[in-house]
Formats: sequence, C-alpha cells, structure tokens
Amino acid sequence: MNLDVADEKNIPDSEPERQYYFMDLAHTLVEEESKRLGRKLTSCVKTFGCQMNARDSEKLAGILSYAGFVPTEDEHADFVIYNTCTVRENANNKVYGRLGGLGNEKKKNPQKMIALCGCMMQESQVIERIKESYGFINLIFGTHNIYKFPELLCESLQKRDELIIDVWDEGRDIVEDLPAKRKFSFKSGVNIMFGCDNFCSYCIVPYVRGRERSRRPKDILREIEGLASDGVREVMLLGQNVNSYGKKLDEDVTFAELLREVNNIDGIKRIRFMTSHPKDLSDELIFAMRDCDKVCAHMHLPLQSGSSRILKEMNRHYDAAQYLNAVDRLRSAIPDIAISTDIIVGFPGETEEDFLETLNVVKQVKFDSAFTFIYSKRNGTPAAKIEDHATEEEIKDRFNRLLSLVQQIGERKAKALEGKVMEVLVEERNAQDASLLTGRLENNAVVHFPGDASLIGELLNVRLDECKGFYYLGSLVG
Ligand code: 5AD
Ligand code: SF4
Repeated sequence: MNLDVADEKNIPDSEPERQYYFMDLAHTLVEEESKRLGRKLTSCVKTFGCQMNARDSEKLAGILSYAGFVPTEDEHADFVIYNTCTVRENANNKVYGRLGGLGNEKKKNPQKMIALCGCMMQESQVIERIKESYGFINLIFGTHNIYKFPELLCESLQKRDELIIDVWDEGRDIVEDLPAKRKFSFKSGVNIMFGCDNFCSYCIVPYVRGRERSRRPKDILREIEGLASDGVREVMLLGQNVNSYGKKLDEDVTFAELLREVNNIDGIKRIRFMTSHPKDLSDELIFAMRDCDKVCAHMHLPLQSGSSRILKEMNRHYDAAQYLNAVDRLRSAIPDIAISTDIIVGFPGETEEDFLETLNVVKQVKFDSAFTFIYSKRNGTPAAKIEDHATEEEIKDRFNRLLSLVQQIGERKAKALEGKVMEVLVEERNAQDASLLTGRLENNAVVHFPGDASLIGELLNVRLDECKGFYYLGSLVG
C-alpha cells in the first residue's frame, strides 16, 4: 500500500468502517487519475447468473460510484468487472469467451483495468487457467470477501501491473451497510441469507457460496425500510433456500415470521422471494403467504425431477408424491397461486422411464412457467462421479420434449387470464412505444398498456385484453 495516501495507523480495524476508509482512498486515487487524463473515469459491472449475483453487482456498482467512477454499460470502460457464475459449464464458457475480447481491447488501452469476482473464482482450476492464459487481468476475488472490494480496488489501483488474487475458502462475518447502486428505482433484491447447506448432488453452489448464514431480522427490516423511503415498491427476498431462514441465528425466527414483518413496512407494495426448497415448505409459510396482502401469489418451487428414484440420487429429500402434496397444500390455501419451477434433464442414470415420470408430474402440476436445464457435470460434486448412461442425443430429445410440454401448458395458463382485471405494478415506460407503460402481474408476467409515466411505481388494475403468449396487451380500469 502507498503510505503517502494510506497511513496504515489510521486504517480502522472494524467493518464496515475499514471499507469506507478505502472507498475514500479510492476516491482520491480515481480523482488523481482523472486529473491526469483530463476526463472522468468510467466503470462497467457485468453480471452473469442469478438474482444473488445481480444484487451483489449492485453493491459493486455502489462502491465504484462512491469511488468516483461514472457507471456505464459499455465494456470499453476504464474499469470492467465481471461478476461470474459457475452453476453450469456454459456459464463459465461465456466468461472465457468474452475475456478474449477484453484482452484485445486492453492492448489498445493499457490503462484499462479488468477484475473478476463471483462464484467461478472460488474454483481453483479456474484461477489456474486465468493465470496461464489471461495475464492481463488486474484483480480476482471470490464470493466470501466481496465486501472487501474497496480495499482490493485501492490495492489494484496502486499496483496496476500486478495480478491481485484474494479468494477465501469460507465466509466470515456478514458485513452490513455498504453502499449499493440499484439497477431499478422501484424494485430491489434484498439478501436475507447467504450460502447453502443442502448439497444437492449435482450442485456446486454449496462449494462456492459456503455454509448457510442468515442476516439478522433487524438488519433486513432496516434495509427494507430504507429502500421504501427511497421509493422502492417491490422487494425480492433472496436466499438459496429461504425456507430455512433463521435456523442458525441465536434469535428464534422463521421465514414466515420475517415475511409478516416485511409485510408491515409502509411504502412496500409487493414482496417476492426465492428460492424455496420443497422439503422445507411449511404450512406456517403457506399461511403467512395467504395472510400477507403484499406477498405475491407466486411460488418458485424447483422440482428438478419427477422421478422419486432420481430425486433420491439428487439428494433432494422429497419424492414425487411429497412434491405434489406441497403443490396441493399451496393451492388449497391460495387457489390462484402461480407456481414456477426448475427442472434438470439428463441427470446421470436418468432413464426414459424416469424422464416420463418428470413429464407426468409436469402434466399434473401444470406449472405457470418452468426453467429447464440440461444436466451439467460440475467437478467436485457427488453426481460428477456417477456413471452417465443416456447419450447426448437422447438427452437433447428429452429436453425438447420437456420444453414443448412446459411451453404448451404455460401458454394455456397465460391465455386463461385473458379478459381478467388484475393488479399490475407499473415499472417503466415501454422501450419501443413511449405511449405504453410496462408493468408486471403478481405472477411476474409482463403487461403493456397505454398510460402516463407519472404512474410508474403505482399498483393499478389493468384488464388483460390480449395474451400474446409470454406477455399481455392491456388497458387501465377505472
Ligand atoms: N446442471 C444443470 N442444472 C443445474 N442447476 C443447478 N446445478 C445444475 C447442474 N449441475 C439448476 C437447478 C437449480 C437452478 C438454479 O440451476 O435446476 O434449481
Ligand atoms: Fe444448489 Fe440445491 Fe442449494 Fe439450490 S438448494 S443452491 S440446487 S445445493
């Protein structure tokens, strides 16, 4: 560290004060560089993967803004950071593919700085490959020390010719109160827990995101109150398995109790959450959803497979009958609830019979929407050791059959709402046609309708005049 600007004696030991110290220092360094170049420095945060990563990226963007960078979507920026995902192999390939382009650009602009963080960086073979083949990277850190970004940014700004790597094996304390720059003014993700203890046999998440840790309810509620006073109308409570929220906290609190508290916060109009694990779907949570007017009647409940044999191999701790029972419990308490899911095709050892059982459960549940994935072998997970049986062709064929079934059911369900009047949260002006507004239904479906931009952030009744497959055209009522 350059002692001209960072007097080590003055660096606070406690967090988040320490990181605010480094954000101020980064601000000084960025200002100096700006003066030297005679222009503002720009930064670009690119997100790969899930909602958790999207929220983490808002924190990275908040820190970069605080440090004086001007945010841009353009990867020609002076500082580019990729927040990576590794849940499936193609997520990694996307990152490698784009790094080549960044490297070429750095040859033209040697001042450019490139950082990598997120789930992929927790894997040692990834770090090795980057060291070998992508020597132009400036900074690498992982999922557990993202809060330390200000400190690492300062170090990197001062050692521009070095690759700085700081990846931890596990999470330490949760650091609260760092700045975030939201992508949307009216909605925000809110982390309620980090990590995952489920160890589904195909999944790399527990290895790269570490053990499950819940934030304290008072920190979560304070954050949401702050968001509400800042104009946020919709919050998405985020965790790998929100149904086990609070289990490891000293205080006695469940996810259902947290939901009821969030429901009481003035200014918040809609509450969503993800992801729920079917094994932990309690009646207490279902009743909280039913009772809380702001909680959307939508449940994302990953099925993964409809074969009880495969579910056992996946270490999911429920069978097909228990999944169907969870759906029945949801629908008898909240008859109009929308249910979406994740399904994996081609898990090692999956036979045609197993796959037909998946189709069967899909037909019985009639999901409103489903994300379908081809199994991707992740090194270090138990499933990676199971001998594979189905051929690539068979798996592709199963995937296509599943996709066409879920689309057919999804479209039929969407069509059933045509003509109905439903509540819409107005999100933005339509990008193509400025006379239209775009909003979302409780089930997350998009609706376009004529209206004035002053209505953004309002909950309004809209008639769904025409279903266009994945979205609706509508008109305001009353
Ligand atoms: N291969 C394919 N899909 C996977 N998912 C998680 N791990 C894998 C994998 N190895 C899917 C699951 C999960 C979603 C986020 O990603 O369906 O619910
Ligand atoms: Fe992965 Fe299973 Fe945890 Fe979801 S619940 S993150 S699928 S281990």
